[in-house]
Amino acid sequence: MEVIDSKQYVSWFRQSTPYINAYRGKVFVVMLPGEAIGHDNFWNIAHDITLLNSLGVKLVLCFGARSQIDSVLKSAGMTTQTRDIISHDVHNNVRVTDIATLDIIKQVVGKLRIDIEAAFSMGLINSPMHGADLTLASGNFIVARPFGIHNGVDFGLTGEVRKVEVDAIRKQLDNGNIVLMTSLGYSPTGEVFNLTVEDVACSTAIALKADKLLIYGNEAGILDQDGERISKLSAEEAMALIKQKVAVSGIDDQLRNLELGVKACSATVKRSQVISYEDDGALLIELFTRDGIGTLITQEQYEQMRQATIKDVGGILELIEPLEQQGVLVHRSRERLEAEIEQFSVITRDGMIIACAALYPQDSQSAELACLATHPDYRNHNRGQLLLEHVEKHARKLGMNKLFVLTTKSPHWFVERGFVASAVEELPEKKKSLYNYQRNSKIFVKPL
Ligand code: ARG
Repeated sequence: MEVIDSKQYVSWFRQSTPYINAYRGKVFVVMLPGEAIGHDNFWNIAHDITLLNSLGVKLVLCFGARSQIDSVLKSAGMTTQTRDIISHDVHNNVRVTDIATLDIIKQVVGKLRIDIEAAFSMGLINSPMHGADLTLASGNFIVARPFGIHNGVDFGLTGEVRKVEVDAIRKQLDNGNIVLMTSLGYSPTGEVFNLTVEDVACSTAIALKADKLLIYGNEAGILDQDGERISKLSAEEAMALIKQKVAVSGIDDQLRNLELGVKACSATVKRSQVISYEDDGALLIELFTRDGIGTLITQEQYEQMRQATIKDVGGILELIEPLEQQGVLVHRSRERLEAEIEQFSVITRDGMIIACAALYPQDSQSAELACLATHPDYRNHNRGQLLLEHVEKHARKLGMNKLFVLTTKSPHWFVERGFVASAVEELPEKKKSLYNYQRNSKIFVKPL
């Protein structure tokens, strides 16, 4: 391994530590459509899932078989009808299932199940699965009922989830097994129903109150109108996007995955994440880096702005130390920071402090804005501006009418935001006496 590679490796591994700790014992439901199982990258996906299992994540895999069923039906010369319909709040393309079709479906799903079990049993010495020693458990975990008649169409043996056997699934998970769910459900009268994998995955995630619903799709996540990946969406933003997608592009996989994600998050699931099944390692990057590689849909606020507390001291120090070394900020000791922590505001991103600012009142009229810093990875996205607005608001609340700032590096930034150049003489008495002539900072003032 080259020096640079091993450095990257070490830093990547370190960055994962908080996530490794956070995920131990958590429940993740993974939705794998038939296309994902049939894709060459499925081997890699199986490796990555195995890795998660070894880190103590409790996994439920829900697999679909739509494309495999289609191709077997086709070669048997059989045709089925499908309909675009809203099923369980999600736009989906739902098959009408008759007895002969169900027979084929059972065969296809059964074979896929066996193939998946085989993939997860692989333990060759030089494979990533070596020593993994994991067990998949599947069974009658879904109680189903008929989907029924919609717009005059009788869907026959197509069903929908009526109940998820949560206790039975939990028992398997507690025993360290990975639960493998098919898209078939059973009724109390002993009938078998053909379900959509979307319904199975989403209902299971909600019933288990899963920590994550991971949805494999054919794109790098949810894309915007320009085809760019959207990195994160709140449930509300996602809802607005759904309306837009329905109006513009109609019913497609993207819309369906988005709706699934929102549905799960609006119920009990903490995070839904859409990633690509074609992209080797997407699962690992999404889960173990802060910015991911797919689309994260979440109920909770991912980025937050708030007053700092004593627990933030370490995080703030980490953020400002490099800037102190470059001379951009004046040095603050840990003790000083601890004493002044109440003057600080921070922006956190998934728990990590990525920006901070402090407000020091000087006299009854004026306050100093200080220590405004943003992590290099998160610059140019307006966060400094947001913090400034936050601090200004706070200063106004304290009855201040003047905000001043001393800077050596970024005068323009302040001028563009309503500050005007000022002089040492204009500083409040207390600050004037402390002015460091050697640093020769420029002084700017903004009336509030
Ligand atoms: N690794 C974290 C998680 O899995 C954050 C992922 C962020 N992903 C994103 N697409 N913005 O929860």
